[in-house]
Order: sequence, then C-alpha cells, then structure tokens
Amino acid sequence: MITIAYHDGTPENEKQTLWAERLTARLKHIRLVPLSAPHAKDADIALVWRPPVGRLRQLNQLRLIVSLGQGVDHLFSDPHLPDNVPVVRLVDPDMSHALSHWVILALLDYLRDGPAYRLAAAERRFDSLPQRQTAQMPVAVYGLGAIGRVIAHRLAALGFAVQGWSRHPRDLGRSIQTHHGEQGFQNIVSNCIAHICILPLTAHTTNLFSADVFAAMPAGSYFINAGRGHQVEEGALLNAIRTGHLAGAALDVFVEEPLPDTHPFWKETRIAIWPHVAAQTNPDTAADQVAQAISTVLAGGQPEHIVDKFRGY
Ligand SMILES: NC(=O)c1ccc[n+]([C@@H]2O[C@H](COP(=O)([O-])OP(=O)(O)OC[C@H]3O[C@@H](n4cnc5c(N)ncnc54)[C@H](OP(=O)(O)O)[C@@H]3O)[C@@H](O)[C@H]2O)c1
Repeated sequence: MITIAYHDGTPENEKQTLWAERLTARLKHIRLVPLSAPHAKDADIALVWRPPVGRLRQLNQLRLIVSLGQGVDHLFSDPHLPDNVPVVRLVDPDMSHALSHWVILALLDYLRDGPAYRLAAAERRFDSLPQRQTAQMPVAVYGLGAIGRVIAHRLAALGFAVQGWSRHPRDLGRSIQTHHGEQGFQNIVSNCIAHICILPLTAHTTNLFSADVFAAMPAGSYFINAGRGHQVEEGALLNAIRTGHLAGAALDVFVEEPLPDTHPFWKETRIAIWPHVAAQTNPDTAADQVAQAISTVLAGGQPEHIVDKFRGY
C-alpha cells in the first residue's frame, strides 16, 4: 500500500475526499492520510499546500513532494524542507485559463472605467466618460511562464499592446514584444500603463515592486497582482495610489493572508481585493498529472515538472 500524506492548508483538509476519489480511480493500492496524522510519518508521497514548517522533514520514507499549486514558495520557505526529495509542481492548463479570465476581468474593468461608473451609479448620475481604446493601452505582463504566456496571448487577441518580461529571452510571436533582465524591466515599467504580475516568488522577485518602481510607471497606471504578495512593497503601492500617481490596483495576493482586518488596503476604494482565488487548483483537471508523477516515481523514473530548487521556481 502506497501512503500519500495530504494537506491542503484548510483546517478540515476540505478536498481530501475529492483527491482520494480522483487518485484511487487512477492508481492502485494507494491511501490518503492527513499530513498531521501520526501514521503519515511513513508516507511515500506528500501532496501538499502550505504544510506546517518542519513537518515534511519528519516523513523519513518520502520519495516525492507534489505541490498542490503551480507556485512552490510555500514549500521553499520551509528551512527544513528535505533536500534529497524531488518537488513537482502542478502545471495545469485549467489554471492558466482561470487566471487569464481573472486578469481580463480586472483589466477590462480598469479600461472601461468600472470604478467610476459604479460610483456614479451609487450617486444616481448617468454621466459618460470618453471611451478608452485597447490599442492605446500598453500592457506589461511580468512572468511569461505557463500562466503568463496565456495571459499575454489573450490580451493581445483583445487588442492590447502587450509587452512581456521574463528572466531569459522569450519569443512569443509578432503580437507580443518581449523584454528580459534588469534593462528590460526598466523599459517595460516606464512604457506601460497597466502592469500585471504573474511571477513566482524567489529571492530575485521579493519586493520587486518598490516605491522607485511605482514612481517610474507612467502617471495613471494600474497594477494587477496575481503572483505573490511579497513581490510588492505594500506601503509603497498604497502611497502611490493615495497620491494619485497610480489609478488603482486589483490584488489577489498579499504579504499576509488572510488580509488582516486592520490592513489599510481595506479602506482604499481604488484597490480591488480578491482572497487569493484568481485560479484555484481543480482536482478534476490536475489529477492526471499528479497520478502520472506518482506512478513515474514509484517505477523509478523522473516525473515532469520537477522544480529546480536552486532557481526557486
Ligand atoms: N493567484 C493565484 O491564484 C495563482 C495561481 C497560480 C499561480 N500563481 C502564481 O503564478 C506564478 C507563476 O506561475 P507559472 O506556472 O506561470 O510559473 P512558471 O511557468 O515557472 O513561469 C515563471 C515565469 O516568471 C519568470 N521569472 C522568474 N523569475 C524571474 C526573474 N527574476 N526575472 C524575470 N522573470 C522571472 C520566468 O522567466 P523564464 O521564462 O526566463 O524562466 C517565467 O517566464 C506562481 O509561481 C504563483 O506564484 C498564482
């Protein structure tokens, strides 16, 4: 019997039954047990999201760690993460699909002056603003990986002038201008009026969006973050919005989650707050990849989407 230690970050492990059903339909002789249970100590596989710090190190038979999301910062932030066990992350087209929908929603709301019209409606004003055009709006997509490139292509198809940023040079075809590295970052920051972050959290991307970076964005810019909260200096973002330099922001991720009651973002009407739901892991679409990774490792092979621990994503 293969034991899979499961933890999804909710107190009740809400989706354990769903995952157990999806995986037993694909793999023989497996059982899911909560990561916190004493018998999880002998687990062969960990299927986890935000496991308690130090817990994975106690699983001394572990052969594979599967992240229940595309990001892996929730694992690498554990200083005791076993370094001899491969980590696989989900790469699910359903996730790119859902995330691109959230970005399109946020960006079109900004383009078509949703906040101003909602305010006017609350005051029963039937006023119109000049309609802005997509082609007049250069949009930056920071991160051109599994998710970012889908976002970039879909925004280009909507008529936005899309520019993308990555670590290495990337070619996304003629409709998307790409940049990379430090110089590329400065170009894209100062050229674009809407800024979409879908980067992994690493040492290099922590606090990337600082006061200087917000100051370098053109006046009236809009900021959208679906990457990770720690990529943004939150005080600097708030200040850039309060002074009117930035028009506003749509945020799905925060330095502290859940966003504390006392956080000043709650009071800023120009910030749209989403509770880390831009793309949720879907066991129906992700189970094939997870089952494949587990059976490959049990057969002594190398699964797909192993994370490069040195690179951090
Ligand atoms: N809010 C949500 O619901 C949600 C859901 C899923 C994922 N996410 C976030 O989205 C992130 C990205 O996911 P993914 O699957 O698209 O990741 P991915 O396939 O690993 O792609 C990461 C992209 O970021 C670029 N990048 C990494 N470090 C960089 C740096 N220092 N400078 C410039 N570019 C850098 C990479 O550049 P190269 O192409 O040069 O390698 C790559 O293009 C996840 O890590 C997670 O934080 C959020």
